[in-house]
Amino acid sequence: MSKDLRSFIQQMEQTMPQDFLKIKKEVNPRFELCAVLRKFQESNQFPAVFYENVKGTKMPVIANTLAARERLALALETTSHALTKEYAGRQHDLKPVMRVDHGPVKEIVLSGGAVDVTSLPQVVHCEKDGGPYISSGIMILKDPDSGVYNMGIYRIQIKSKNKLGIYFGAYSHAAHIFRKFEERGEVMELAIAIGHHPAVYLGAQYRGPFEISELEVTGGLLGEPLRMVKGETVDLDVPADAEIVIEGRIPPGVREMEGPFGEYTWYMGDALENPIIEVTAVTHRRDAIYYDIFSAHPEHNLTGLLGREAILWERLKASIPTVKQVVLPFSGTCRHTVYVSIKKEYDGLGKNAALAALAGDPFMKMAVVVDDDIDVLNESEVLWAICTRVQADRDVFIIPDAYVCELDPSAYDIKGKEIRGYLNCKWAIDATKPVEIPFQERAEVPEDMWKNLDLKYYLES
Ligand SMILES: Cc1cc2nc3c(=O)[nH]c(=O)nc-3n(C[C@H](O)[C@H](O)[C@H](O)COP(=O)(O)O)c2cc1C
Repeated sequence: MSKDLRSFIQQMEQTMPQDFLKIKKEVNPRFELCAVLRKFQESNQFPAVFYENVKGTKMPVIANTLAARERLALALETTSHALTKEYAGRQHDLKPVMRVDHGPVKEIVLSGGAVDVTSLPQVVHCEKDGGPYISSGIMILKDPDSGVYNMGIYRIQIKSKNKLGIYFGAYSHAAHIFRKFEERGEVMELAIAIGHHPAVYLGAQYRGPFEISELEVTGGLLGEPLRMVKGETVDLDVPADAEIVIEGRIPPGVREMEGPFGEYTWYMGDALENPIIEVTAVTHRRDAIYYDIFSAHPEHNLTGLLGREAILWERLKASIPTVKQVVLPFSGTCRHTVYVSIKKEYDGLGKNAALAALAGDPFMKMAVVVDDDIDVLNESEVLWAICTRVQADRDVFIIPDAYVCELDPSAYDIKGKEIRGYLNCKWAIDATKPVEIPFQERAEVPEDMWKNLDLKYYLES
């Protein structure tokens, strides 16, 4: 049996039943489905929820699957503490795809006039969203020059039975590929997979070189080759074990308004002039399960976390061998802030580490570098280091007019800071102590006295 969404659901049911809930009552995909998740979030709970009965569709919906680190860890068969390094290791274990003649995703094939994406669950997540969105579509493309496959998750607006809107940021490989097709005046064929094993979602978040096939990276993350089957109406292979695949094409030179949409920043992302997708086929399992990602909420951030954390870890390790840990905290949307701890061997290394962190991924806006006595998973320790080890005139530096992401609500345009645009000011804080100048020591009780202390002994009468 190949790994797929169903095998993962089974694993969740068996190993963490308290985090997997089934709801039988009918829910409306417009707000109500997400309202249930939001209510859980109020009390710091993030269960995966399987909705058996969703208004307006025959398909059940699973949402919030990757809303907790423990389930990311389950997807990669590791612990939540070891996640980043596990992803970093597996992403190099490239496994060529397994081409198959048939797959469950072909049980139902609808093309031409039979195509109707409005029969899929029409999930509306946030109050100001521009309508129903597919938040969990993994778009599959082929580079026209090399034939290398690329995957990514992009917000996809359902516009009509056979028309979708899509937004891919200027930085993305998808945008790079689309620019090639558009310059040649050619349509860009694509496939969108919805619902698969979470490792496939994590593979779509790989941030390594363009030349590497994300299908092969995904094989490494899955621990087995990804099974692919020929598309019906496009010259692309599609994941054979997905729940649903939408096939289509983006015509060159066409733009329509798309958005607004609740984003990973937890703000509303602007409505923008974006490409459209003409849908040419929809294929799915007979009893397909629709996979939704709760956008603008923790699942959105966590799904995108590991690809970035892992590549930053590797890039920092390459230039700073004494790097200890790299963390993209929630407070920085798991995308724009990076905390790095290093064993500082010589003066200047803190600044070099900060530069490497900012350069390691275009999304990095703020880098904070601390010594290795600070636990970067504990944000108050990071803030304590900033408070006690930093003088802003010496330890903070600013790089104006760099690209971060246009979705940052404070991003600005080259023509003026008051105009919204692509640009951002990157900055870094070197919160490490000097090496060659004596620095005051931490005040602490001897560790061997308290670390393994048995409090029960003292509380017994
Ligand atoms: C839930 C989710 C939604 C996302 N939506 C978008 C989006 O709308 N546009 C975008 O450019 N990136 C989006 N991303 C980030 C991309 O999927 C990610 O950067 C990916 O690595 C891009 O792949 P590429 O560089 O191969 O194109 C999203 C990520 C997640 C986890």
